[in-house]
Amino acid sequence: MSLPSSTSSAATTPRVLSGIQPTADSFHLGNYLGAVRQWVALQETHETFYCIVDLHAITVEHDPALLRGRTKVAAAQLLAMGVDPERSTLFVQSHVPEHAELAWVLGCLTGFGEAGRMTQFKDKSAKQGAAAATVGLFTYPILQAADILLYSPEPGPGERVFHVPVGEDQRQHLELTRTLAQRFNHRFGDTFVAPEAYIPEGAAKITDLQEPTAKMSKSASSPQGIVDVLEEPGPMRKKIMRAVTDTGSEVRYDEENKAGVTNLLRVFSALSGTPIPDLEKRYEGTGYGQFKKDLAEAVLDTFTPIRERALALLDDEKQLDLTLARGAERAGEVAARTMELVRDRVGFVGRGR
Ligand code: TRP
Repeated sequence: MSLPSSTSSAATTPRVLSGIQPTADSFHLGNYLGAVRQWVALQETHETFYCIVDLHAITVEHDPALLRGRTKVAAAQLLAMGVDPERSTLFVQSHVPEHAELAWVLGCLTGFGEAGRMTQFKDKSAKQGAAAATVGLFTYPILQAADILLYSPEPGPGERVFHVPVGEDQRQHLELTRTLAQRFNHRFGDTFVAPEAYIPEGAAKITDLQEPTAKMSKSASSPQGIVDVLEEPGPMRKKIMRAVTDTGSEVRYDEENKAGVTNLLRVFSALSGTPIPDLEKRYEGTGYGQFKKDLAEAVLDTFTPIRERALALLDDEKQLDLTLARGAERAGEVAARTMELVRDRVGFVGRGR
């Protein structure tokens, strides 16, 4: 079967959906280089949906005022980092109630044991003591599957590519999402395109500045191990200068023996676009001091304008709310269409008109 020659570009543009939790006062260097920078780049080639997942943020105990503030701060930072609301649909998850609705349906297709095998749940629940873990934390991956599948392109001939840019730690959740999409299709007829995890080559894996073998992480790293996007320039510079380096004085990429320097080389290369071997050459014989100083400048050059833009956006709350409302409207249209199909397929009676 051949495709019609006049396939419109909207029907063939690959689609992307990704989400980020509003659980910190600021995103960090790892979020930027590992995720958001790719989100921005994907705007060039994909139809992009980016979601601030506040429903996921309440799967652990939270403070309402903090959540409200952090959701706006998250939006302002995403915009400041280059997510363009004209090209991307940027929205808050709780603005589109279909996320919770589809999660219910998918939950009824998920085995209890299947959900119990999710390693992130096991890690997170172990951390807070298994008895304190909520059902919401247990079903977190199902809500994530709903986030994704609501924006599935329509399956059919000339099927569209559906990518979900995520970190390595989200692979298992993506596998579950694919399984649920296929299971739904099998039981109720073709409805979803199974999404593919998209772990872009350019995404740099950034580790903790103080513990360079561990991922830079909001929940696990110490404040000294994290560079926050919204951090003031002074402290930001200090953190880079105090980053753990390794014994010796050579600026050399060596994951096993020089995890600290290797991490800094990755950051430097990702921010400056200079290949790592060129950086190694440039700092041959100079020791760590000059290397870190220059790296601190590169970090400040990137984040100072982002910080200023984010603060300006937060200053105009009305405009920010309006941007998010527009995003919710666009997302809501797609989500409503998908959900209508889902309701029909599973056999819910339509509301007669
Ligand atoms: N679980 C993801 C994380 O912790 C966040 C997330 C929620 C997400 N929904 C999503 C990521 C949908 C991609 C797609 O990083």
